[in-house]
Amino acid sequence: MSVTGKDTYLTVVDLKAMKQRAEKIVCLTAYDASYSALLDKQGVDVILVGDSLGMVVQGEDTTLPVTVEHMVYHARCVARGRLRAMIVVDLPFMSYSTPSVAAENAARLVREGSAQMVKLEGGMHRVEVVNHLVKQGIPVCAHLGLTPQSIHQLGGYRVQGKDDMAASRVVEDARLLQDVGASLLVLECVPSSLAAEITRALDIPTIGIGAGKECDGQVLVLYDMLGVVQGKQPKFSKNFLHEAGNIGAAVSAYVAAVRSGQFPGVEHSF
Ligand code: KIV
Repeated sequence: MSVTGKDTYLTVVDLKAMKQRAEKIVCLTAYDASYSALLDKQGVDVILVGDSLGMVVQGEDTTLPVTVEHMVYHARCVARGRLRAMIVVDLPFMSYSTPSVAAENAARLVREGSAQMVKLEGGMHRVEVVNHLVKQGIPVCAHLGLTPQSIHQLGGYRVQGKDDMAASRVVEDARLLQDVGASLLVLECVPSSLAAEITRALDIPTIGIGAGKECDGQVLVLYDMLGVVQGKQPKFSKNFLHEAGNIGAAVSAYVAAVRSGQFPGVEHSF
């Protein structure tokens, strides 16, 4: 027991056990202490300090301008707010271009930001980086499908893995990332059937966003599920505040909908 009593956080071991028990993992993004505390109180299992903060907090057009400094700052804020939830923090664009650069930046997220796991985007070309981080004792969440840090290469926010060749590449990448030690896998905007196949094939949990209901867990950007969006709501998201009436009830409804498998529905999937 630590002197603060704050050592009851969920861990990577708990997430794996949840997959084995077929218990859905509930994840949401947060960027500050107040929302972190609120999410934690409503039973969210994993709080992702996503580099989506570049868009929803900083007002940028993409996640690319986000720096390690920004991630450390927001991760610290989030860490102060939670009592139980596990904290996963994004390594931002170009902060993991080589194994040693990745280790240096991931160490900052762990030491200064209290990250329990770092998340990075990409498939087979990230194998060395993932392996190196895992060897240093840093759990890694991989992220496949729509990877926003490669937006200029992808040419837009589109569903990935639609044809057979692209789908096989995602399956192969997922297997490789698990083999080199990734502990969790985010699948963003891929067909539900592909996400289901990957979820069955892997021992590590998958967390979907626009990837259908068969994933082991779900994540949404907090601002999207509260309807704080400029323009159109993404197809894969749902405004939970609309029916719930207040933010705590909206998060509670999301937790219940993910746990029971009611969210996402087919209307939120590809
Ligand atoms: O940055 C982020 O919030 C994310 C989620 C959309 C998965 O990566």
